[in-house]
Amino acid sequence: MTTKEYIENGEKYLMHTYNRYQVVLEKGDGVYLYDTDGKKYLDFNAGIAVYALGYNNKEYNDALKNQIDNLLHTSNYYYSAPTAEAARKVCEASGMEKVFFTNSGAEAIEGALKIAKKYAKNKNHEIIAMKHSFHGRTIGALSATGNEHYREAFNPLVPNIKFAEFNNLDSVKELVNSNTCAIILETVQGEGGIYPASAEFIKGVRKICDDNDLIMIADEVQCGMGRTGKMYAYQHFDVLPDVVCTAKALGCGVPVGAFLARGKAKDVLVPGDHGSTYGGNPFVTCAVSTVFDLFEKYNVLDNVNKVSKYLEEKLDGLVSEFDIVDSRRGLGFMQGLVLKENLAGKVVSEALEKGLIIITAGANVVRFVPPLVIKEENVDEMIGILRVILKEI
Ligand SMILES: Cc1ncc(COP(=O)(O)O)c(C=O)c1O
Repeated sequence: MTTKEYIENGEKYLMHTYNRYQVVLEKGDGVYLYDTDGKKYLDFNAGIAVYALGYNNKEYNDALKNQIDNLLHTSNYYYSAPTAEAARKVCEASGMEKVFFTNSGAEAIEGALKIAKKYAKNKNHEIIAMKHSFHGRTIGALSATGNEHYREAFNPLVPNIKFAEFNNLDSVKELVNSNTCAIILETVQGEGGIYPASAEFIKGVRKICDDNDLIMIADEVQCGMGRTGKMYAYQHFDVLPDVVCTAKALGCGVPVGAFLARGKAKDVLVPGDHGSTYGGNPFVTCAVSTVFDLFEKYNVLDNVNKVSKYLEEKLDGLVSEFDIVDSRRGLGFMQGLVLKENLAGKVVSEALEKGLIIITAGANVVRFVPPLVIKEENVDEMIGILRVILKEI
């Protein structure tokens, strides 16, 4: 089939929930992707913060191929070696005590909300979420998503979820009452425009949860797994949530997420309360386990901390150089370039034309969530392409 035919088939048969670019991606290698016409793209999106190790990593691929030959799936009524190993590694990395593996980020949020609701026992199950947050597309996750644009077609959603201002402790305090059971937040807001939480806010939310016996849920689906320079972004602030949601780079390409819990939250769910046919099967957890090993082997966190400084410096250079660029914000390899006009979509389209894959985070923010293994030279190449676009725009 030709590229044109793939696109025609895709348009005919795939449900139109995404406005897809007219590109058919075929393979990846390192930090580059290639389409069916052989065009090469530098990837600063990593499949939306997923492909942390870059494409076609031999050790990762070999581990998965070996697991395919052994066992893809059991069911959650049995143990398997990869699942037990992955559970240990993700608990140790996050500071949590127990994990439930899911198939996506949204499902991890669902599990976290179930812990909060069950922990609340006879309360009215009120949950405080943040404005401009994004937690996923399932009904529960959508109900906690603070953006009416995603929600309006599906109202009424899960009741009793209230929205506070992110990074505004007073607005959270105003919503707490005797029915509140949990506070959910992204440590760095992603889809909402790349807003890192302040230390004061995260620590303050922790204290509110302690003082009122609430479950603090950190959604680290996008900002977790090393993206900000710590395995989990709350580790920058010396704070431990009660429940953590993780996904995306957890499996570096296979569909896997998890919700984790500790202390008062860790034994809330008991047999019969939650389940998943596929969740955490040997294939996906082999990926998780391998990802943790390779993060250590390649000193991925060191690379993020080193190269993200360079990325920040270069993006700041664009702020000084171009009138259209207002500012930069972010943490580690989760960066946003804020434009003075709603031109982010145009920048992203032009970049694709020029062989650079980036993504928006709202109408005026260009988002950079590259593989965590990029080097300074990749930053230089990306900035070179971006400069041409910003000059033309
Ligand atoms: C912070 C956050 N939470 C949850 C989700 C939902 O994850 P998934 O798309 O895997 O369901 C996303 C997806 O972008 C996210 O960024």
